Amino acid sequence: MRKEWKVKIIVLFLALLSFIGSLNGGFYLFKNSHLIFLTILFAFLIFLGDIIEIRVSPHVIMSLCSVFIFASILTIPLPLIPLTCTIAITASEFFVHKRVWYKALNNISEFVLSGTLASLVANFFITPGDFELNLATALALVLGAITYSAVTTFLIALVVSQAEERSFPDVWLHWVPGEQNILPFITLVLLGILFAYLFNKNFIAGILCLIPLALVYLAFKKNQDLEATVKEVLMALAKALDSRDFYTFEHSQRVATYAKMIGEKMKLNIKDLEAIESAALLHDLGKVNTPDEVLLFPGHLDEEGWKVIKLHPRVGADILKCLTILKDSTDLIHSHHEHVNGSGYPRGLKGNDIPLGARILAVADAYDAMRSERPYRKAYTREEAIAEITKYKGKYFDSEVVNTFLEILDEFPLLGERETYQNKFSEEKLSTRNDPSSNERK
Ligand SMILES: [Fe+2]
Ligand SMILES: [Fe+2]
Repeated sequence: MRKEWKVKIIVLFLALLSFIGSLNGGFYLFKNSHLIFLTILFAFLIFLGDIIEIRVSPHVIMSLCSVFIFASILTIPLPLIPLTCTIAITASEFFVHKRVWYKALNNISEFVLSGTLASLVANFFITPGDFELNLATALALVLGAITYSAVTTFLIALVVSQAEERSFPDVWLHWVPGEQNILPFITLVLLGILFAYLFNKNFIAGILCLIPLALVYLAFKKNQDLEATVKEVLMALAKALDSRDFYTFEHSQRVATYAKMIGEKMKLNIKDLEAIESAALLHDLGKVNTPDEVLLFPGHLDEEGWKVIKLHPRVGADILKCLTILKDSTDLIHSHHEHVNGSGYPRGLKGNDIPLGARILAVADAYDAMRSERPYRKAYTREEAIAEITKYKGKYFDSEVVNTFLEILDEFPLLGERETYQNKFSEEKLSTRNDPSSNERK
């Protein structure tokens, strides 16, 4: 069966479960009509939360709906949880986010099932709408939050593992850890508790507490937008730099693709993968400082020229060090030309003193540099490039990274632009090649 259909069948099955839960909620509400106001209010709040998204890292976006799903778990009876979640998330997915049907259904089911199971667990310890801030409530919330998080990541992993034909435990473990997900999630749960507590004590106080919440969100969003904009500008600058040197056009994008694939194979967590990807996209940013006559020099550089080129890792790191959003990438950029035997630059770091992400970048960077045409030499063939990387394994390149690189090399996408440039220059008889890492402008 084609993988897209496998994914769609899983999504439809999960949606059916959510629908049954909502139908049950509908019957419950019919018999308990005094709860209509609370159901509508929480459905509205969850809807509002779902349309407000926060980017907690370059690739992880969280919506604020978890705040109100948790508040609803503490406030309304269990059968109404799937109903409120279904109404709210359906409205936001189809009418605000306008996602395609299977993605929308997947998101709806994720929230409905995780919210319902978390409510089921919490209900062992507390009665919704009648709880105090005591040990039983704390236990209900901790176990409810763990259930909510486990079910959400389980469902994401189920769909992603089928869509990408990867092993389920691998994908699940990949999603579960990482403080970049856990800390914002705990914050959302705590805000949910605060809102529910105030709301259950005094309706007006609960509603009023949404005002500071909205103000904190707006301040956070403004700061985040600013950081995202600065990052976008830097990415555009890095892209422009790649285009400045005709021979390295889109080099950084290819290095990012390769480095991320190596990191994934080495089972690095999402946070590290994101740092590597951002570092790869910006690794040669420091060349902004390199004059054209050095960068585009159509031959082998002399000592003076190399001195200038060798400044670029430090210059790149200096430019980025004040950006908190890229704080984990800065050291990788600073170290992407270090060699494990200590012969690299700018600091001559050795072995594990070089961050793992930088050791990965070094292999991806060298491979792409060799595979690209340069004014002073022809492109290496795939086999020649592999032979060079293998030759310098344990000397310039980390052995484990090289082994992983060799394992997944066949999966590297053939990136079209590189082939175009190679063809364009294939007739030219270019000079002989040198050592790929020590004398290569990567
Ligand atoms: Fe570089
Ligand atoms: Fe490079």
